[in-house]
Amino acid sequence: MNDLDELVAQAGRDFAAAAAPAALEDAKARFLGKSGQLTELLKGMAALPHEEKKTRGAEINQAKQAIEAALAARRQALADAELEAQLKAEALDVTLPGRQRGAGGLHPVSRTLERMEGIFGSMGFEVADGPEIETDWMSFTALNNPENHPARSMQDTFYVDMKDAEGRWYNLRPHTSPMQVRYARAHAAKYAAELAAGQAMPEIRVIAPGRTYRVDSDATHSPMFHQCEGLWIGANVSFKDLKSVLTDFFRRFFESDDLVLRFRPSFFPFTEPSAEVDIAFESGPLKGKWLEVGGCGQVHPNVVRNFGLDAEQWIGFAFGLGPDRLTMLRYGVNDLRQFYDGDLRFLSQFR
Ligand code: PHE
Repeated sequence: MNDLDELVAQAGRDFAAAAAPAALEDAKARFLGKSGQLTELLKGMAALPHEEKKTRGAEINQAKQAIEAALAARRQALADAELEAQLKAEALDVTLPGRQRGAGGLHPVSRTLERMEGIFGSMGFEVADGPEIETDWMSFTALNNPENHPARSMQDTFYVDMKDAEGRWYNLRPHTSPMQVRYARAHAAKYAAELAAGQAMPEIRVIAPGRTYRVDSDATHSPMFHQCEGLWIGANVSFKDLKSVLTDFFRRFFESDDLVLRFRPSFFPFTEPSAEVDIAFESGPLKGKWLEVGGCGQVHPNVVRNFGLDAEQWIGFAFGLGPDRLTMLRYGVNDLRQFYDGDLRFLSQFR
């Protein structure tokens, strides 16, 4: 083997040993670079006698071509290997089942609230929204529930360890009734101006659905639950109107004309007279059973005064309904806690 064959073989081994493009370029420089071994051989030709130059030159050229060919082949091999590795790393298994975007849906209680808003909306009720962390004054005092009065313990209230600027404790509202006060107070000045301008007596017709909280937990009570407050007061809104609004509401909600209402005398500090509302179906699976669905009554004059309105002029009723209960009845669910366990096997049935 002459020196050139040896050089070509050496280059072949060095190129093969280069595992990455950068190492290959280093190896190339050792043979073909400015002071590479082959380049040095070409430079050395100057010293050769004329007749030798030709044969030696041709041999060196051949060796150079062989080395360049080996380099090109190795470059290609490295590029192929890199592409191969990349394809492998980014491989998609098209036979996998695929990630699905599950179809979401409204929570059954949200469905009920929307349904209630729709039905009451069609009867001219506005929808109002308010804070779940309330002051003691809004939750109780303004609703004719004096401090230290035993009626306050009708609800097992969650108190919050925080007072407002006037030193009133906050609580997680135990009912949506404070929304009567908030809504009326927010609009009282406007009504006064309308009346002063000689306009017809205005009225308030509003519902306030939302979350409420009590220290209570069993199959039919959850510490977080929902209520839907209703308030309709004006010049002469009577118990008769209350009865027709609620009858209409429940018949439409349950899509049943075979539904009757019963008003059972009761007590709430903020209404007088007060009643519990029961419904019964005259047909269907729940036939003949009285089911309690809310409380109601004529708004107490003290409460009307706390609205900032004239209790001689404004008369009407309020009610509070239990959307969780209505959802249970509508769908035949017997444990309220299922609504709040977050078990998708249960919840997805309502999608
Ligand atoms: N706030 C009462 C309760 O939570 C229900 C109610 C509302 C009663 C409005 C009368 C009028 O029990």
